[in-house]
Amino acid sequence: MARGPDGARRWATLVVLATLGTAVTTTTNPGIVARVTQKGLDYACQQGVVTLQKELEKITIPTFSGSFKIKYLGKGQYCFSSMVIQGFSLPNSQIRPSPGEGLDLAIRDASINIRGKWKARKNFIKLSGKFDLSVEGISILAGLKLGYDPDSGHSTVTCSNCSSHINTVRIRISGSRLGWLIQLFHKRIESSLQNAMTSKICEVVTSTVSSKLQPYFETLPVTTKLDKVAGVDYSLVAPPRATTDNLDGLLKGEFFSLAHRSPPPFAPRPMAFPADHDRMVYLGISEYFFNTAGFVYQEAGALNLTLRDDMIPKESKFRLTTKFFGTLIPQVAKMFPDMQMQLFIWASLPPKLTVNASGLDLIFVLGTQAFAILPNSSLDPLFQLEMNLNLSVLLGAKSDRLIGELRLDKLLLELKHSDIGPFSVELLQSVMNYVMPTIVLPAINRKLQKGFPLPLPAYIELYNLVLQPYQDFLLFGADVHYS
Ligand SMILES: *[C@@H]1O[C@H](CO)[C@@H](O)[C@H](O)[C@H]1NC(C)=O
Ligand SMILES: *[C@@H]1O[C@H](CO)[C@@H](O)[C@H](O)[C@H]1NC(C)=O
Ligand SMILES: *[C@@H]1O[C@H](CO)[C@@H](O)[C@H](O)[C@H]1NC(C)=O
Ligand SMILES: *[C@@H]1O[C@H](CO)[C@@H](O)[C@H](O)[C@H]1NC(C)=O
Ligand SMILES: *[C@@H]1O[C@H](CO)[C@@H](O)[C@H](O)[C@H]1NC(C)=O
Repeated sequence: MARGPDGARRWATLVVLATLGTAVTTTTNPGIVARVTQKGLDYACQQGVVTLQKELEKITIPTFSGSFKIKYLGKGQYCFSSMVIQGFSLPNSQIRPSPGEGLDLAIRDASINIRGKWKARKNFIKLSGKFDLSVEGISILAGLKLGYDPDSGHSTVTCSNCSSHINTVRIRISGSRLGWLIQLFHKRIESSLQNAMTSKICEVVTSTVSSKLQPYFETLPVTTKLDKVAGVDYSLVAPPRATTDNLDGLLKGEFFSLAHRSPPPFAPRPMAFPADHDRMVYLGISEYFFNTAGFVYQEAGALNLTLRDDMIPKESKFRLTTKFFGTLIPQVAKMFPDMQMQLFIWASLPPKLTVNASGLDLIFVLGTQAFAILPNSSLDPLFQLEMNLNLSVLLGAKSDRLIGELRLDKLLLELKHSDIGPFSVELLQSVMNYVMPTIVLPAINRKLQKGFPLPLPAYIELYNLVLQPYQDFLLFGADVHYS
């Protein structure tokens, strides 16, 4: 991923904005925006309709009976029973966002095949047989209202309104020469059935939304524990937002300390989302998301590292010994002859990530205290450094995780304190240029390779992944497969 050198002014502006952000922000910007495009809704619709179809096929149809009266023949009774749905076909369905409302589900040209038995009787004459019914030109329109539960951060979905319409019901009688008799009152049967089915269809749609769709929404992770230190909060900060083309979920997108959660001293900034729609879902992941990670891990002391000579590769000519450091700073060898050394490294500030269209940059300020290890194992301080590291971040995605890798661009050393008299800190530049990329960064990169889990509901796999940096956020796009 491309990146460029950083400018001091941008960094300063960022700090000012972040500080102002916390002071004056009244509405909460999301740390992550999860967008479902029309392509994603089309896929969701395909999957959802399979479930709906199974539920609709379970509709039970009541027995119909009544009486008839025919000239010359007089009165008789009929009964239609044992009606079973053979198939409910839903060839044409679509879910579209309804701006400001939620989602509209429209099903057209659906049809049902039903089989059943009929009986008729007139005095001592009894007739019976089977029939096939086809219910055709069914349309179903339903509004799905999306909301959220501010306590749990979960989104909610309910069927707010539903209407269905049936065009035709056709009955075909078989099993008797006297089937024509039944045809005489097919109109009555057809209209009773039409009424019964029309109301049942909406009942099934409404109950399927609450019994199948709502529980599925609840499988979206709201908080995820990452390790002993941190969790990620993916709860919604507002109800899902439908626009003409998309459905957006505004998520908190924030790391938090498991030990003691405190609000980060900076706030997310709004994201200028591009109109991309090639993928089913997009996640806009703000700088804020990554910077809350840095904040939590730094506060917890998880970015501390102790380096000893046995952690340096055997083949390296660089050693953590007073003998080796003595070649650069003679007084180290003179004052502490032939001893091992230890470096204690810590993050003095939370690492600060900035994202723009050219890439991701990370500024890391590390304190380093060097010690000589005395023969009785106690530590004698030698000097303290401050290291300013400018790193570029290469991000990748592995199925449901974001993974990262840090590359060192620049390292600036400053001597903060010396216990061994004055010396030129430039002498240590080559040492740190070696230690950081070969020992410290690989240790951090190993952790980053474990990745951050993305907020996905159950049974979802991602493919066709794309990652693109924009000003202040990273856009992650993917197609989805429900397994
Ligand atoms: C992104 O930031 C880098 C470093 O500050 C800068 O050099 C580059 O011009 C910026 N790119 C864009 C597209 O803003
Ligand atoms: C690192 O980046 C910051 C902010 O862009 C800049 O002020 C600083 O000079 C850079 N440091 C080095 C060592 O290049
Ligand atoms: C549901 O109600 C909304 C608002 O009252 C309306 O805009 C929409 O057309 C209705 N949808 C259906 C399927 O009746
Ligand atoms: C990490 O280092 C800092 C700075 O020396 C210190 O205050 C903190 O207690 C350390 N935390 C852990 C967990 O070692
Ligand atoms: C270790 O040795 C040093 C110098 O010989 C001495 O000042 C220090 O008190 C000793 N520490 C312990 C824990 O014995």
